[in-house]
Amino acid sequence: MSEAVSPVVDAAHAEPFTGEGDYRAAVERIREAASAYYEGTDLAMDDATYDALIARVTVTESAQPGWAVADSPAQVVAAGGGVVGDVEHSTPMLSLANVFDADELRAWAARLDRVLGHPARGYTVEPKIDGMAIAARYVDGALVQVATRGDGRAGEDVTAQSRAVAGLPGALARPVTVEVRGEVFMTDDDFARANELRTAHGGQPFANPRNAAAGTLRAQDRAYEAPLSFLAYAVHDLPGGEGLTHAGAMAAVAELGVATTAGSPTGMPLCSTVDELLTAIAALGAARGGLGFAIDGAVIKADDPADRDAAGSSSRAPRWAIAHKFPADTRTSKLLTIEVQVGRTGVITPVAVLEPVQVGGVVVTSATLHNFDDLVRRDVRVGDTVFVRRAGEVIPEITGAKLDERADDAEPFTPPAVCPRCGGDIDRSQKRWRCVQGRACGAVESLAYFTARDSMDIEGLGDKVIRALVAADLVTDPADLYDLDVETLEKLERLGRTSATKLVAAIDGSRTQPMSRVLTGLGVRMTGRSMSRRLARHFGTMEVLLAATVEQLQEVEAVGPERAATIHAELVELSPVIAKLTERGINMAEPGVTPYEERAAATEAPAGERLPLVKEDGKPMSVVVTGSVPGLTRNEGNEAVERLGGKSSGSVSKRTDLVVVGEGAGSKAAKAEELGVPVMPSDRFAALLAAHDAGDQPSWPDFQG
Ligand code: IVH
Repeated sequence: MSEAVSPVVDAAHAEPFTGEGDYRAAVERIREAASAYYEGTDLAMDDATYDALIARVTVTESAQPGWAVADSPAQVVAAGGGVVGDVEHSTPMLSLANVFDADELRAWAARLDRVLGHPARGYTVEPKIDGMAIAARYVDGALVQVATRGDGRAGEDVTAQSRAVAGLPGALARPVTVEVRGEVFMTDDDFARANELRTAHGGQPFANPRNAAAGTLRAQDRAYEAPLSFLAYAVHDLPGGEGLTHAGAMAAVAELGVATTAGSPTGMPLCSTVDELLTAIAALGAARGGLGFAIDGAVIKADDPADRDAAGSSSRAPRWAIAHKFPADTRTSKLLTIEVQVGRTGVITPVAVLEPVQVGGVVVTSATLHNFDDLVRRDVRVGDTVFVRRAGEVIPEITGAKLDERADDAEPFTPPAVCPRCGGDIDRSQKRWRCVQGRACGAVESLAYFTARDSMDIEGLGDKVIRALVAADLVTDPADLYDLDVETLEKLERLGRTSATKLVAAIDGSRTQPMSRVLTGLGVRMTGRSMSRRLARHFGTMEVLLAATVEQLQEVEAVGPERAATIHAELVELSPVIAKLTERGINMAEPGVTPYEERAAATEAPAGERLPLVKEDGKPMSVVVTGSVPGLTRNEGNEAVERLGGKSSGSVSKRTDLVVVGEGAGSKAAKAEELGVPVMPSDRFAALLAAHDAGDQPSWPDFQG
């Protein structure tokens, strides 16, 4: 259900339900989907299914008026109660075109001058707020209707939810009839508090303030407080407003008691040249981190009404306004501590541990301080309020400290005198400090992780043997293990010929472990066993994973921009050792997974190698688990689906291949039945999993009831 679309209730072609039970079940499903939509959490139903159900409920109610439930969702839509975009806007709510740098801004201004036939008579600069556009209609000074932007022509009615929005009064200072447009958003503080309350009520936290604002504005009844704010950036039909400049019109709106971007801490400077615009935009960018709410750019508007009229608009955006997007988001947070990390190759870096802060749409808790020279030069101290910057996919960084907020007793940071991992000397000849041991520093820990039970599971290769191997300089990275022979090993203290022979066999045997275990063993930061499995299943081979871009990594469930950037950087760093492992014949593919690049053209996988939940064409089955599976948590149930080669999904549609139904299953089971999707009882699913884990090659039809 996209925000923009009005419901297509094609009642003329819809089939009425034949039983009252089916009708009631459909009403329930609509209600569930609508509330998930308003909560902004889960898109439980696609638009088409939703519209088709509404249509069937509508025709059923006219055929069987006696069945109709009170507050039927079909009646609500028909009566204009505001389920999806049904408030038509007085004039279209347009979007804005974007520029990203000074040259593009100059080109825009030059084009505007050309259209006008003279230089524009002044511009305004105001913040571009990252929230949700609304139009608020006041009649005789009373707030009567608030609608979202929707598709620009019609939006959702959110009047009831807008009653307590800060900056959008229920009554104006004077009894005027006017339409105010602007952005509803959530401040950073309100966002943090709303998420606390939301999770305390058993909900999922909102991903960012924008989603929080949109979700809250749509939610009809909330069990928790989630304050919203508003800043106006436009006004329509202002009595006596004809001929006012933008600055003048916004001042008039402010006089009526409505909060405006011009009245926000950023103000709305007036400029007459592009150079002045660039200075004002830079000042807005510098103030950005301290505003307490998210902005993603500056909006530049021609100030003069005659210029606006002459420039006009395209169907999408006005020609008299432009958004100058900011390149990177900078916020402030408290520096809790500075950790000194030693990388796999012995590089020593200072890492900032921060109070969680939302930057560029993600919550950041740690950021790089680059190197010790940089840290000393910027004089960043523990306890400081620091600027945290995140540009696109890049790992967040600390760009400096807010010196005017520094505590008197803040101590300058003392860089380490010795390697914090092995206590050895530090090579300071380069900007990037390094432990003189290089890769050998920390080799024991990383080798132990590689050989561990959940990784390559090499029996007999415990800490003691690893320590002896490293001390004897026989091994510095995991690939070196595969070069060991019995003759070399038996010379090691405490290791006789029999143990040495067994150990070589165990090492050799680990060559066929699945790729997910190799990946686990390599200890890629921000991944563990289950993330390694997910990555292996998604990309199929190490070669494809290594070639994946940061965006492609984000295709994997639970991999956001920060994690994707870290995984990418880690894989680059690990690629030499991965190449060494490949040369030594270690398996670099995940069994049962169709190679990523072949998946589109999916060829049939050889029989017998297929996992039970992989379709004949090699694609994963889309599986929904509803209700409980014996012995598994909800998450483990989903993991099991993936282990069996399927793709777990949260909602049932025509594209679902299988629904696993356990105790406590709700409407998803009914939906599966209605759509004719195959259903498997959860105890049979548990049996299928057990058979698979025991090394059998089960196929799910054998397990169907
Ligand atoms: S003016 C006809 N001013 O940006 C001009 N828009 O990308 C309409 N926005 O849908 C927009 N802050 O939701 C304007 N100060 C500002 C804004 C602003 C945020 C949003 C608005 C619009 C979107 C376009």
